[in-house]
Amino acid sequence: MSILDKRAALKAEIDKVAEVAGYLWQKGWAERNGGNITVNITQWADDAMRALPAISAAQPIGKTLPRLKGCWFYCKGTGRRMRDLARDPMANGSIIRILDDCASYEIVADAPVAPTSELPSHLAVHDYLLAKGSPYRASLHTHPIELVALTHSRQWMEKDAATRMLWSMIPETKAFCPRGLGMVPYMLPSSVELAEATIRAIDEDYDVVMWEKHGVFAVDTDIMDAFDQVDVLNKAAQIYIAAKNMGFTPEGMSDAQMKELSDVFHLPK
Ligand code: 13P
Ligand code: ZN
Repeated sequence: MSILDKRAALKAEIDKVAEVAGYLWQKGWAERNGGNITVNITQWADDAMRALPAISAAQPIGKTLPRLKGCWFYCKGTGRRMRDLARDPMANGSIIRILDDCASYEIVADAPVAPTSELPSHLAVHDYLLAKGSPYRASLHTHPIELVALTHSRQWMEKDAATRMLWSMIPETKAFCPRGLGMVPYMLPSSVELAEATIRAIDEDYDVVMWEKHGVFAVDTDIMDAFDQVDVLNKAAQIYIAAKNMGFTPEGMSDAQMKELSDVFHLPK
């Protein structure tokens, strides 16, 4: 890919981040500075970018992540609002590169905006994805109202209980979120423990995991696809709640209907 093509591709990725940030705000999932986005942009780093001087001192990640050596990321800034990022992604986020010790990073562009407080989870997941040879390059953390509400119930925190219920609300849910919804018990936001529990859940083969009483963490090839998986799941949760509000528990698709769907669309399980 030529330098100009790389620059155009990088701009397109960051434009997508801004578009998704706008959707998160419109959906009511991004109160104040809620949520964060990171994208592994290493494939678009060109020689001119590599020659850029750091605009911050080296900062510790809190973990050593061997596959991230020399990698580049776009990161939402900590304390920054999604609704502001939607207008101006480079003033409300920054580009970082991981140093050779694999345990620290420096900010390179455009402004010295400190990356999200959830950086340990985001970078640990990117490291895991590279180790697995995954094509996924984007990760999204957001606070979707109905999905977070579900995690306030022991019933829905049971492994795959929410997955089965959500898939059965509307056929598209399993088709577009075929790995379902993993569950991570409550842990302190931005902690290394939360990062490690997130990796364990993703390693169980989920693309989307809930952080109990907090939010969702999703990975996919790009940020739009990660957003779509969360959107599909939250829509299913809204259908469940709408039925409950009408005074009944929704029937859900039958096991036979789910099996037929899985067979025809070649979905797992
Ligand atoms: P940041 O503003 O640091 O990205 O934090 C938002 C958030 O949702 C933390 O979980
Ligand atoms: Zn959060």
